Amino acid sequence: MAKSRTIFRCEACGDASPKWTGRCPGCDQWNTIVEQRRPEREPLSARLAQVLDAPLALSQIEVVDLDPISTGFDEVDRVLGGGLVPGSVTLVGGEPGVGKSTLLLQVASLMACGGRRVLLASGEESVSQVRLRAGRLGALADSVFVASETSIPDVEAQVDAVLPEVLVIDSIQTMSDPDLSSAPGSVAQVRDCAHRLVRLAKERSIIVILVGHVTKDGSLAGPRVLEHVVDTVLSFEGDRHHSLRLLRAIKHRFGATNELGVFEMSERGLSSVADASGTFLADRRPGIAGSVVVPTMEGRRPMLVEIQTLVSRSALTTPRRAAQGLNAGRLGMLLAVLEQRAGMTAASADVHASAVGGVKVTEPGADLAVVVALASSLTGQPLAADLVACGEVGLGGEVRRVGRLEERMAEAGRLGFRRAVVPASAPDAPTDVEAIRIGTVQEALQALGLATVRPRSRS
Ligand code: TYD
Ligand code: MG
Repeated sequence: MAKSRTIFRCEACGDASPKWTGRCPGCDQWNTIVEQRRPEREPLSARLAQVLDAPLALSQIEVVDLDPISTGFDEVDRVLGGGLVPGSVTLVGGEPGVGKSTLLLQVASLMACGGRRVLLASGEESVSQVRLRAGRLGALADSVFVASETSIPDVEAQVDAVLPEVLVIDSIQTMSDPDLSSAPGSVAQVRDCAHRLVRLAKERSIIVILVGHVTKDGSLAGPRVLEHVVDTVLSFEGDRHHSLRLLRAIKHRFGATNELGVFEMSERGLSSVADASGTFLADRRPGIAGSVVVPTMEGRRPMLVEIQTLVSRSALTTPRRAAQGLNAGRLGMLLAVLEQRAGMTAASADVHASAVGGVKVTEPGADLAVVVALASSLTGQPLAADLVACGEVGLGGEVRRVGRLEERMAEAGRLGFRRAVVPASAPDAPTDVEAIRIGTVQEALQALGLATVRPRSRS
């Protein structure tokens, strides 16, 4: 038997170290280091005895066709660059209740309608619960097989019986393997179960989809190494109080990761939203001070989102700074720029800023819209209804260019916007949208009739 030696491994990030520490040096989490005994490697000569395939010159390697199979759900296919590749493993992460089980049941049903055999192994719901939901969703395809399983060997036995082309595991956190020494429910167990499913996918060329829960901070619950093990990581996001859901690829071995899928959740499940901008702006009321629309870019998709701000007198010693769907730190920075470079202060006021519709706008391209909306709120002057603003704001108050401005302006034009405040360096956009070119925040406020005070600093 091989000798064993002890190593200490972090259950969260997989980092190994020779001694125990309270805090993992790799991911800074506390109490995640556990002792592991592992067999000593075989001596080199023994390993050389079982020689592997000789390495091949890159140009000599035969190209294997990795044709993706359409899921039948356009927005899912869009994110995956066409569909799912046989033998690949896809992890779909999202907060509890966001709609992962719903999405995958719909995908399972659509793929079954496309002639594929699908096995859905649910560790979270009973088969009758899945049946009920499928009835409500109108997703009762004959070649979707459902098993309520939490044990990996049982899942493998079901795979032997059903011979599916697609295997959905809902969720990876509920799976365990009695053959493994790690404790059921532990992070090590989740990781090892994922490894077994990956092997299953590769050996039998099955499309495997794993559901994974995420923790409050948005990272996948369980070992980060899970993300390295699978081929594709998708994140399903959305605010529970809104119907909008976004699917994006965080990692994708078979294509680009910059596509975005937009869905709407209703009582009949998820449906594709082709016109995201139109949906976001549906309830917009023009003529309100503090509101402006920004053409943001989500992946390769332009989307128009309304930014709203409200500045009100504060009764607090430290006034509130609340950001919803926007980065709070960035909001603070933009307030500072507004004060120092354009002489508009909100120092003794509460400031609320939000991206409307349950969407998160994190790109710096929304800076100018936030600044303009804040100035509009501070002066009480509403902005023209047909105006959009887009640009990154620097600490000096300068407004910088952002990517894909033509596409952003074209999307604004499509939805009836006629004027766009854009950085001076912006390229000409071949649309019916008039570009208002500005170099600084101050110039933007002047162009919009919002600059009331002279800037403090003259630089
Ligand atoms: P679910 O798919 O169970 O979420 P997850 O698997 O990510 O935990 O969906 C949960 C929510 O979705 C639930 O609160 C109800 C809502 N829902 C709808 O609004 N419409 C529907 O058709 C279905 C099935 C669920
Ligand atoms: Mg679920």
